[in-house]
Amino acid sequence: MRDVIVACDFSSAEEVLGFLDKFAECERKPFVKIGMELYYAAGPEIVREIKRRGHRIFLDLKLHDIPNTVKKTMRVLSNLDVDMTNLHAAGTIDMMKAALEGLTRPDGTRPILIAVTQLTSTSEERMQKELLINASIADTIAHYAANAKEAGLDGVVCSPLEASIVKEKCGAEFIAVTPGIRFADAAKDDQVRITTPARAKEIGSDFIVVGRPITAAEDPVAAYNRCVEEFVY
Ligand code: C5P
Repeated sequence: MRDVIVACDFSSAEEVLGFLDKFAECERKPFVKIGMELYYAAGPEIVREIKRRGHRIFLDLKLHDIPNTVKKTMRVLSNLDVDMTNLHAAGTIDMMKAALEGLTRPDGTRPILIAVTQLTSTSEERMQKELLINASIADTIAHYAANAKEAGLDGVVCSPLEASIVKEKCGAEFIAVTPGIRFADAAKDDQVRITTPARAKEIGSDFIVVGRPITAAEDPVAAYNRCVEEFVY
């Protein structure tokens, strides 16, 4: 089950397809994350094209709206045949249940659905002062993860350092998808709470999301293979 997801944070179809061309000869097709930037620029057609090329897709659109709207939107995403998608746990258990309903196809299959707990860009101070959430970040993450589990979701996206809190609260089977990955010998960019692919494996991540260490590497295929070697095997 463990896999490396490549965050394809590009702003046009040409850029992302040019990047994926580099993997054309590879036996292992990378699992690709399409975020808001690319989706809003290139639309559902880029999802279909990347699927046609044989990649699995995590569509990272972080939905957060009234339950009925989220349910109907999830139905559209499910028809796009993505493999994983997500929403904000802050949208409530009702919204998460509605999302699952929308996502489930008539034959009972559906993409993996994970929840964002608290974005890693949210500090405890801002959460308490601006959002009036008086719990600690760790308690908030554990509680939102438990809500996601109660709603029937498959897991959460969290920093690798939080994966153990989530597993403790929700069980080993509950999926932890973790960005904030850097090689031991590389720059941190703007990420703060980071870890290496090997350490993420030890902590218990199920999927790591890796962007710039692969997309901005001189040899992206070699960087991807290094992640796979450290994290998957
Ligand atoms: O380039 P980098 O490896 O930092 O990219 C990480 C990816 O994971 C980006 O697409 C970023 O938006 C996403 N992400 C994150 N932290 C979160 C949630 C998502 O870095 N908490």
